[in-house]
Formats: sequence, C-alpha cells, structure tokens
Amino acid sequence: MEKILKKLSAIGIIPVVTINDIEKAIPLAKTLVDSGIHCVEITFRTEQAEDAIKRITSQVPKMLVGAGTVLNTEQADKAINAGAKFLISPGLNPTVVKHCIEKNYFMIPGIATPSDIESAINLGVNVVKFFPAEAAGGINMIKSMSLPYYEMRFIPTGGINNKNLNDYLSFDKVICCGGSFIINDEYIKENKFDKIRKLCKYAIFNMLGFEIDHVGINTKDNIQADKIAKEFSKLFNFSIYENDFSIFLDNSIEVMKSVHLGRYGHIAIKTNYIERAINYIEAMGGKFDISTIKEENGKIKSIFLKEDIGEYAIQIVQK
Ligand code: 3PG
Repeated sequence: MEKILKKLSAIGIIPVVTINDIEKAIPLAKTLVDSGIHCVEITFRTEQAEDAIKRITSQVPKMLVGAGTVLNTEQADKAINAGAKFLISPGLNPTVVKHCIEKNYFMIPGIATPSDIESAINLGVNVVKFFPAEAAGGINMIKSMSLPYYEMRFIPTGGINNKNLNDYLSFDKVICCGGSFIINDEYIKENKFDKIRKLCKYAIFNMLGFEIDHVGINTKDNIQADKIAKEFSKLFNFSIYENDFSIFLDNSIEVMKSVHLGRYGHIAIKTNYIERAINYIEAMGGKFDISTIKEENGKIKSIFLKEDIGEYAIQIVQK
C-alpha cells in the first residue's frame, strides 16, 4: 500500500475518468502514459468501468489503475478482480471499508469533516480522499483538520484545477490530488487525444513549475574563476558569494573553481517538487546520476541527469 501511495505521490495527479464508450479506454490510458501520468481512477459510474479496468491493466501494463466511486462491496470485488490496485469512494461506508480491510484491498474512503476522520481512524484508515475538496473548505480545511489528526494523509478531489493544485500539493499531508480537470469528456468523445495530451502536459508543467535557477561555468582553477567572477561583477554589478567550490554571482551564475560536471558547465533547473520532477523526467525516458544527489534533512535538494545536453550537465534543484 505504501508503495502505491509513493507512486501516486510521485505522479501528483490522479486523473478521474468515467468511461462511457469502452473503445476509448485504451487510447485514453495510452495518452495519459505518453504524457507522463502513470495512474488513473476509473469510476464505477458507468457499466463500462469493470471492463475498462480489465483492458487497461492488461494492455497498458505501465498504468497504475484504481477504481473510483466504489459504493458497495460488489463493486469493490469486481474492481479488484478486474485488476484495480486501489479503490476510492466519495464517502466513508463502514461496510465497504471493513470488507476491503478483511480482503486486504487498498481502499481510500472519502471524508469531509472531523467526525468522518474519526470514523476512518476507528476503522484503521490513515489515508482518505477529501471530497468534495473545494466545496468542503479547500486546503484551509485540510490544514485545520491536520492539527488534531496529524497522522492522517489526504487525497483532495473535487474542484481541483490548475489554479489551486499547488495550494494542495505543497502541503505535506497531501499525497496527491484527484481530478477530472486534465480530461475533457468532449475530447474523448471526439477522439481528440492530442488535445488531452496537451491538457495533461499543461497540468504537469504547471505543477512542476520548471524555471532556470542558475548557470554554472567550468574553469580550470581558483585564479581563472576569480577573474571571470570579477568580470561579471564589473560589468553587471552582480553580488559575489564565494564558497569552497565556486563563486556565485547574484545566485544566477555559478563560476566553478574546477572542471565540474559537463564540458562547459551546468544548467540548474528548479522545480516546485523535485521527487515529482524526477518521476516525470524518468517517465519521459530521462535518467539520473544517483551519485550526484544532494540531500538536506533527508529530502533531495538536487540531482544531475546522467546525460549532458549540448555539453552542459543538467541539474534539477528543489525550489
Ligand atoms: C470524483 O468523483 O472524484 C469527482 O467527480 C472529481 O471531481 P472533479 O470533477 O471536480 O475533478
């Protein structure tokens, strides 16, 4: 279960999908995977749900498939037998939750109030869907409820969009967000999967917030580094911050005191969530050099890609 949560957290967004036409299930799942989103929640709001889960789990093996709107024990059994790895419901139905615990299914029930959370805790649940997130008080409600129920973790869903996504994801009790905002039913109906890919990419880049952090310049030694740093400072009045390995100019140019990674130097790109950025870049085929990880308080601060781009080493940095 923790493995599934780790994966959901690394992806950041669970697309909530209702399949009306079974023939759309595979092209849609492939579009999500190609876009870097390796999870989906198929809701039991249509007859096609069970078959859609079955098809996606067998034909798109990279996809982590969950079932949503699971309202009774029959649907829970059907979903798991079809291949679903997790089950989500909008509310907390003790009969369904107990059934899932007995059968060792991973169930995430919905809650909206402190009393709901206490029911969840009584049943031994420590991850809940917060639904309907925006209507039930949004991120402030989660933050308030996290004070007494500090061990509870949340998957907010309902009213999440590109504007409020990062308000939720930046709170550490939020594992990821669910939402239909990266899927458009009309596009599915009209087979406009390229448009869905664009929606997914927009959501991912909005979430990750990639920006240039600084450029690193390699030099052969301290003397050359000092000369270059002074030149920049003379012409542009950049402030100088020196450390053992490099000289920073206004936090945006780093003059290395040696030939560091990359032939010419490195380009550091910052992101809102480094773990999610690593997950996305790997999903796109990028590889990282694990030996370059820098950590602070047990959290990754930066890492370099294995392959240089244009003779520059590429560093990903946590904002
Ligand atoms: C759900 O069941 O999780 C919701 O329908 C998703 O909510 P949204 O459409 O507002 O994203």
